[in-house]
Amino acid sequence: MTTTAPFWLGTSWKMTKTLGEAGAYADALRSAVEAEDVPPDLRLFVLPAATSLAVVHDRLAGSGVTIGSQNAHPGPDLAVTGEVSMDMVRDAGASLVEIGHAERRTLLGETDDMVADKVAAAVSAGLTPLLCVGETAAERAHGETADVLTRQVRTALGRLEAAVPDELLVAYEPHWAIGSNGRAAVPEEVAEGIAVVRDELDRHLPGARTAVLYGGSVNAGNAADLVTGLDVDGLFVGRAAWTVAGLLDLAHRCADALRNRGLRQPNPDLVSAIVRKDQR
Ligand code: PGA
Repeated sequence: MTTTAPFWLGTSWKMTKTLGEAGAYADALRSAVEAEDVPPDLRLFVLPAATSLAVVHDRLAGSGVTIGSQNAHPGPDLAVTGEVSMDMVRDAGASLVEIGHAERRTLLGETDDMVADKVAAAVSAGLTPLLCVGETAAERAHGETADVLTRQVRTALGRLEAAVPDELLVAYEPHWAIGSNGRAAVPEEVAEGIAVVRDELDRHLPGARTAVLYGGSVNAGNAADLVTGLDVDGLFVGRAAWTVAGLLDLAHRCADALRNRGLRQPNPDLVSAIVRKDQR
């Protein structure tokens, strides 16, 4: 039995992978889990495209790997052509749903209000929101990072009303650090953002089970520094985990780094709630 807190490590596949590629990734990841090639103190998650959610869920059922959707529509009106609902992604096997990713905000015009609707709808549907927040390069240059993060977190949680989520994950992902045009951050640049997000969560969801992740150009070269240099409960990865070998390499780097830092104490309630939910 491990004595460390579960550390989230996951990847959004974004708009990649055919059904065959998704199934092959899931099979290889399952084999790695069965071969005990995944460090036990890590909580792995994979966010396939909607088209491969069900097949990935089927192939990874019972493996302990958490499956999530990259998006879902908040409804309640179901006459929304081209969208999938929170209930639909849950039915396809998602227990997480990513909300408010930088690419959706900038390329698709997703607003703070839309994000708030999605967070509330996700919680109502019994899904764990993986809320993404982060400032643009221009906002950072103008010294607005803390204000932007405060506004994004506060607005996102603003429609929960009395409903307190079972758990909530927030990924701090500065827009300027994401993707092939992004610049990988060093811990000193993003530690304050993590602290702002944590403060907002404590203020608006006191006592709730929350985890704060970092994302944006996480790779084999910087993962260990991010783990040891930041007060985070996980890393959220894109490109560097689009192969199983990449994900496993990061998993081992994270596990090694976790042993070298002042470990955050495990929250037994969070651990058991997550395990219960995944065993449903
Ligand atoms: P990246 O993507 O790791 O490829 O920069 C991260 C993300 O978008 O979450």
